[in-house]
This record gives sequence, C-alpha cells and structure tokens, in this order.
Amino acid sequence: MRFVTIVGARPQFIKAAPLSAELRKRHEEYLVHTGQHYDDNMSDVFFRELNIPSPDRHLGVGSGSHAAQTAAMLERIERVLLDVKPDAAIIYGDTNSTLAGALAAAKLHVPVAHVEAGLRSFDRRMPEEINRVVADHLSTWLFAPSQVSVRQLAAEGVTEGVHEVGDIMADGVRLFAPLARERSEALARLGLNPGEYFAATVHRAANTDDAERLTGILQGLSAASRPVVLPLHPRTRAAIERHGLTSLTENTSGSLRIIEPLGYLDMLQLQQNAAAVLTDSGGIQKEAYYLGVPCITLRDETEWIETVEAGWNRLVGAEDRKILLAIDESPAVGGRPHPVLYGDGHAAERIAGHFGNT
Ligand code: UD1
Repeated sequence: MRFVTIVGARPQFIKAAPLSAELRKRHEEYLVHTGQHYDDNMSDVFFRELNIPSPDRHLGVGSGSHAAQTAAMLERIERVLLDVKPDAAIIYGDTNSTLAGALAAAKLHVPVAHVEAGLRSFDRRMPEEINRVVADHLSTWLFAPSQVSVRQLAAEGVTEGVHEVGDIMADGVRLFAPLARERSEALARLGLNPGEYFAATVHRAANTDDAERLTGILQGLSAASRPVVLPLHPRTRAAIERHGLTSLTENTSGSLRIIEPLGYLDMLQLQQNAAAVLTDSGGIQKEAYYLGVPCITLRDETEWIETVEAGWNRLVGAEDRKILLAIDESPAVGGRPHPVLYGDGHAAERIAGHFGNT
C-alpha cells in the first residue's frame, strides 16, 4: 500500500518514528511535515535522533490562529494527496496537523488511519479535544491505546474499524530509553544528580493563556524543596512575556531552572532520573509512568485516567499551594509499575500488521 503520513508537532515525530520503521518494511510511505513546529529543537532534532526519514514534503505552515494555521494546512495537504494518490493517510494524536490531515483526506475519499484514537478529556474548550473528536469520526481505522479509549468511541457510536493496539509512545520509550541512558549527557551538562531534582513541562493553552494559572504554576515550581528543571516551550515563553511574568522566571533564588527545549533522548534521561515529573502534557504523563517516575499533572482533568487510578499520577491543577503539597507527598522513585497499562510497547507492529503485506 502507499501511505501518506502527516505530522507537524513535536509529539507526532516521536509517535511516527516506530510506525514509519515498521511500515517501510512492507509498504511505501510518503512523509509530510506540515511545519506546525519549526524550531530546530522542536522539530529537526527529533528527525536526527530518532532516525526518522526526512520529510518528502515540508509544507512550511508555521504559526497562526487556529483557523489560519488549519486552513493553510488543509489547502497544502489536499494538493499533496492529489499528487501522491495514496491508499490511506495516517494521522497522529490531537494537534491542528491531525485535524487538517483528517479533513483533507476524508473529503478526497482517502481512508484515514488515526493513531491514538478514542482519547477524551470531555472538555470542549481544549483545541485538542475538538481535533480528536473530528479526527475519530472521520477515520476508517481507529488505533486505540486502551480499553477506556475503545469504550469512549463506542459511547459516540464508533465501533467499526476500532482496534486496541496499545500506546505507540510506549514503543518510543522501549526503543529509546536505553539509548538515552547510554548517550545523553543532560544530567552532567545541567549539573544534576539522579533523584535530586524535579522535571517539569508546561505548554497547554489552558495554562499559558490564563495569567492566574500560569502565575500559580510558576510560583509553585519556584518554591519547591529541590531544583525544578523546566525546558520551556516557545508558546509558554511568549505567554510569560505577554503576561509580564518574567520576574517569576528570572528569580535565581527560587528552585525554578528554565532551559531551552530538549531533544527526545535528553528529555527521557531528564525524566527517568527525576524524583517526580510535573507536567500538563499528555505524552509526558505516560512516559513518566513507563519510566516508573511519579507524575504530578498541572491540569484539572486528564485523558490518561488509568495512570491516576493506578496511583502513579495526581491531578493538582494550577494553584501553587496544591502543587507544593503534591511535591512534598510524591512517593520515592520506584520500579516500573505492574500491571503495565497501555500495552507492551509493540503497538507499531500491530498497526502495520493491520495493513497486510501488499
Ligand atoms: C501543539 C498541539 C498540542 C501538542 C503540542 C506539543 C494543537 C492545537 N496543539 O501545541 O496538542 O501537545 O503542540 O508541543 O495543535 N512555536 C515556536 N517554535 C516552534 C513551535 C511553536 O516558536 O517550533 C510557537 C509559535 O509561536 C506558536 C506557539 O509556539 O504560536 C504555539 O505553537 P502551536 O503550533 O500553536 O502549538 P503548541 O502550543 O505547540
């Protein structure tokens, strides 16, 4: 079969790496990068480290409002699909690149395969929730990471083409965490000792657009008992400046240490040696779990509810007091929890297997 794979944002490069490798054993893949993320440390570094083939087409869409960004992608993806005439389009996760890929393909009657289908936060104010719902309802193949996601699809009447395959990000951790241990020099470079710091990420619109929430998070992270290392997403950097909060990030007497965004191997190494991870990212909640590191989630809800039920993730929101309390109570670093949620790290083989050998 001939596939067009559409990626554009950082987590999609990580998800596409294992499946691209599997697909290319038997099929033809044409890789399209929308250009949603474009800085070297948000994009190119992942292609280099994860051995992802260079994109066949780079659409250079860049930043913009949701409508402007999605519209530019739609127009350019449609042209690629008309040129390449694939048998199927593959989309990942819940970004604007996912939405544009699903819409452009479905309208041209190109069947869509959605990897990471069926996730819901049940909060339609999140752009990601809108992207997920639309992508799922337009897809022919829905590769779901868990039983909960299969049930959520069924509750919306989507039962055909749904396959529970496990989480493809577990493939990434299985393949790359050992390499990170071997190759990453992040801890030495940052002067950190294993188990003596916290790793943090913040980039969700709900946290960055709301000055009160962003203030609460930055104050909480600045008052922790150990260093908190925060590789700063460009969206968050811009929001800190916009809300006039730079005094909170430039205060060197607090525990907060802001650094540039990291590549995947350095990020895995930072996480796997942290006392706990604080994040509003979906992917990092799971990565922390796979790496056996407790997670404190800076949101009021999560799509990955199983990690909370298993006791490895706590939802604390954005208030400094609650963040600090959770840090104080975070359990010591343990082994990888059992039973393992979201499959065994072989989702890519299962997904590729659905497409046979032709
Ligand atoms: C997107 C996804 C989110 C995903 C996240 C991972 C949507 C709606 N959201 O959010 O689901 O978890 O990616 O990071 O698609 N920017 C740069 N350099 C870059 C990339 C972005 O400076 O390389 C800046 C741009 O100015 C942009 C802002 O960051 O305005 C936000 O980027 P955007 O593409 O809107 O998405 P993310 O916030 O990264």
